Amino acid sequence: MNITRILFGVLLAVVHLWPSAALGQTELLQNAYHRTSTSLDGKWHYIVDPYETGYRNHRNFVPFDERKATISSAKSYASNAKPQTPIDRVEYDFDASPTLNVPGDWNHQRPELLYYEGSVWYKTEFQYDLKADRKLYLYFGGANYRADVYLNGTKLGFHEGGYDPFNFDITDVLRKGENDLVVRIDNRRTKDRVPNMATDWWNYGGITRSVKLIELPATFIQDYYCQLSASDPEFIEGYVQLSEQTADTNIQLSIPEANLKTQLTTNAQGKATFRLKAKGVKQWYPERPKLYQVNFSTKADTLVDRIGFRHIQTRGKDILLNGKSVFLRGLSLHEENPLIAGRVTTEAEARMLFNWAKELNCNFVRLAHYPHNEHMPRLADELGFLLWEEVPVYWGINYTHPPTYLQAENQVKALVHRDKNRASVIVWSVANETPREDEARLVFLEKLAQTVRDIDSSRMVSAALDRTEEEETHTMYITDPFAKTADLISCNEYIGWYGSTPEQCAKTTWDVSSHDKPFFISEFGAGALYNYHGPQTTRWTEEYQAWMYRETLDMLEKIPSLRGMTPWILVDFRSPRRNLAHIQDGWNRKGVISDRGFKKQAFYVLKAFYDRMEKKHAYVIED
Ligand code: GCU
Repeated sequence: MNITRILFGVLLAVVHLWPSAALGQTELLQNAYHRTSTSLDGKWHYIVDPYETGYRNHRNFVPFDERKATISSAKSYASNAKPQTPIDRVEYDFDASPTLNVPGDWNHQRPELLYYEGSVWYKTEFQYDLKADRKLYLYFGGANYRADVYLNGTKLGFHEGGYDPFNFDITDVLRKGENDLVVRIDNRRTKDRVPNMATDWWNYGGITRSVKLIELPATFIQDYYCQLSASDPEFIEGYVQLSEQTADTNIQLSIPEANLKTQLTTNAQGKATFRLKAKGVKQWYPERPKLYQVNFSTKADTLVDRIGFRHIQTRGKDILLNGKSVFLRGLSLHEENPLIAGRVTTEAEARMLFNWAKELNCNFVRLAHYPHNEHMPRLADELGFLLWEEVPVYWGINYTHPPTYLQAENQVKALVHRDKNRASVIVWSVANETPREDEARLVFLEKLAQTVRDIDSSRMVSAALDRTEEEETHTMYITDPFAKTADLISCNEYIGWYGSTPEQCAKTTWDVSSHDKPFFISEFGAGALYNYHGPQTTRWTEEYQAWMYRETLDMLEKIPSLRGMTPWILVDFRSPRRNLAHIQDGWNRKGVISDRGFKKQAFYVLKAFYDRMEKKHAYVIED
């Protein structure tokens, strides 16, 4: 056992002694999406603060002590100070400052912020009349990367992680009349963050997801899990967790359309488990995305969800959906609307991306490389897509740094808690293209995988693993040690694009027979500028990309245990790493659809393949 592994294993064992990357937050609300709420979305004032004038003492550069940042001390922007007399000096004024739309990244909203990486302060205000014995939560769908949140000059806490939801209980900080909400967002890339310094996507900063106020009773439904049993799909099973550890509280659970209704009673931890015979329940399929209304209610609280009941498992090299072997006709996509060149924030934008995937005859989508907004898994449930969801443990993370591990763990916990009731989600991915030779990386990933399985063991855990080529015979193997832990053996491959040309595909064989698990290709692709045409041997033409797709699909179809793929990528996306003038101009051109929404030749090559795969792997839905 390598010393790194031992040392890092010990460090990770005590990692929770480190200050959390989520100070002051309250446990994540389950199904905030359907909670009655007051939206704070809209135009928020903002101040760009690259030198941290509003956050740090300029001499020793340490953060201001927010406990002292009262209205009178105008140091921290958090106090939203106002001059008390005409002679007072306060060198900022949110109300006189311009505004940004929330939700939304700042990069696409202001040309001068396109490449900005630093701090931006946001401010909005609201009034809320909260009755006695009620609670008020402040919920963020996500913000990239760190958010320091202040209400009426009091620090509620901070959150680190660019793509996962977080919330604060603001009951005791709320005041009558106007409440000032000030948020500092810092989107800097640092070596200890997740992701860290290098990504092949735009570092969109800002309050990129919706912000809302959620009023709750003193004791409310904090969390629940309601799925078809992984061990026995004849049953629907799960639990309901109250916000307080109150025993003997009655909870009604009903699924009217399935004629299911039961009364539960909580234990001393405020939790109740259930197991209901799923008689006559129509199972969820991409071809028939049947959702049921599920009602949870106590005397004080009611929460409604729409849940699909399906069963997913692997058996040897097969992936079984409701007991039927399935081939995943997928595509990768970033959370970006190319038409505005910014983060997806609305359901309509999410629907646009899924409509393109539907036109390709996809039944599967990889939400790369980080948790997407919650419209995506909810729409996938409704429209009939299976999903691969992922945390941005991407390339060279600081694997030996416990606080970095904590950030990754917080992100994976938030993602799994948020989406564990979504039928569409069948894969949790803990990494993308991470160095297999790094011992600490393996310990890091294995602990993340265990964290996922402690919350939800019903879905497949995977990662875009490292692959090995045996040069003489051009044989590809998966020797990544994480393959032992993964349920789905997956890798990215760019034969024909990086280091070779498409004719190399026909000379390459894949030998993954040593793994008695399903095999999946999580990326392949080639860049093409829409409407740039020429001989297929001319790189960047649509013809080259289409040639690459034809050669790759021929190669991959020969792999006996191949059970799906998510070619890279649905639509061109922005990346600061892609600077070839007149071809890339700051865009990664591997989309089968251009940044203007036009389909390239490769789109039709892939669609024809998927039409054929649909027939080849068809199954019959009996119920
Ligand atoms: C990598 C990586 C992607 C990247 C792609 C590319 O495999 O996972 O994030 O965009 O290759 O090179 O285009």
